[in-house]
Amino acid sequence: MKCQILLLALAIYVRSISAVGVSGAAEGFAKGVTGGGNTTAELVSYLGDSSPRVIVLSKTFDFTSTEGTTTATGCAPWGTGSSCQLAINQNSWCDNYQASAAKVSVSYYNAGVLGITVNSDKTLIGSGSSGVIKGKGLRIVSGASNIIIQNIAITDINEKYVWGGDALTINNADMVWIDHVTTARIGRQHLVLGTDASKRVTISNNYFNGVSSYSATCNSYAYWGIYFAGSSDLITLKGNYIYHFSGRSPKVQGNTLLHAVNNYWYDSTGHAFEIGSGGYVLAEGNVFQNIATIVDGTVEGQLFTSPDATTNKVCSTYLGHVCQVNGFGSSGSFSQSDTSFLVNFSGKNVASADTYSVAKSSVPSNAGVGKL
Ligand SMILES: *[C@@H]1O[C@H](CO)[C@@H](O)[C@H](O)[C@H]1NC(C)=O
Ligand SMILES: *[C@@H]1O[C@H](CO)[C@@H](O)[C@H](O)[C@H]1NC(C)=O
Repeated sequence: MKCQILLLALAIYVRSISAVGVSGAAEGFAKGVTGGGNTTAELVSYLGDSSPRVIVLSKTFDFTSTEGTTTATGCAPWGTGSSCQLAINQNSWCDNYQASAAKVSVSYYNAGVLGITVNSDKTLIGSGSSGVIKGKGLRIVSGASNIIIQNIAITDINEKYVWGGDALTINNADMVWIDHVTTARIGRQHLVLGTDASKRVTISNNYFNGVSSYSATCNSYAYWGIYFAGSSDLITLKGNYIYHFSGRSPKVQGNTLLHAVNNYWYDSTGHAFEIGSGGYVLAEGNVFQNIATIVDGTVEGQLFTSPDATTNKVCSTYLGHVCQVNGFGSSGSFSQSDTSFLVNFSGKNVASADTYSVAKSSVPSNAGVGKL
């Protein structure tokens, strides 16, 4: 019986993907799959097993206290001010890298530290704006592929503590789509692509909300935004609202080709991009509003910032369209025209680009959960 239900769900899944009208299809998904799943344990089981599944969340799954708490000695790398993050001594991080920081007692929820395992062939979607995972993130298992995470919120993961947990982790995967997800109050990364190859990933229409009571910069702006460090990663970052961070949003390195298109960066006291060795970034049609420093320090990788209509014609050969200029308001400079990596876009599925004015008017009202 259970097997039949599963096959039915899979049939709906396959048909709906070809239509891609995800907001409309969600009603159908919900009927097919929620049947009975109502606990955090069931959610963990459905996401982690080896069956293709469409899983619909229509309430908050609160993991906060499900694995108990730990009280231990950590450290205070940024001081003990009431708005400063503290650090868990994970893998002896305090001992090895923050030896001069004051030792402090830390008390955190164990559930937050490691995300829920997400296996291959899973679609996780929220119904309306009601799908919330609280206190624990999602960790796509190494080797997984064919995963959609759409229209949910991931919130409140040990916000006070570095190493308290990431919202979304991908490391060694392929074909992952994260869309219309809201992340808020996260201790470590809102999104991290680790050092293995995560191949083809699209990160679209998400709302990364960096407002936090505790931050590494002690000023309510989260530092640990988005981290792209894969060894062979093709990442489309489109239509995201990246709000109120003080750094690392994103940090790009390893061997990562990043197409950052039509995103809206709003309000940073630090930097948006950090581009290390092996980070190849094409940025077009984005909005930078109140971003004090758009790129931190020296670009060790390569960067094409789509500076003007004439220069941007070079994109046609490789991306199939003329790149769009970015828009700036009360922000730092962003101007570099490396072109030798554009060949890496050739033959790939490349996202289209609107003008930055379109992004400016549409992204804030479209990004995140509940906006489909
Ligand atoms: C699901 O859990 C909620 C409480 O969290 C409860 O009110 C509801 O009856 C449960 N539904 C089912 C189908 O078990
Ligand atoms: C870019 O292209 C070069 C040459 O084909 C290749 O070695 C490298 O892995 C590519 N990098 C990415 C991130 O696609």
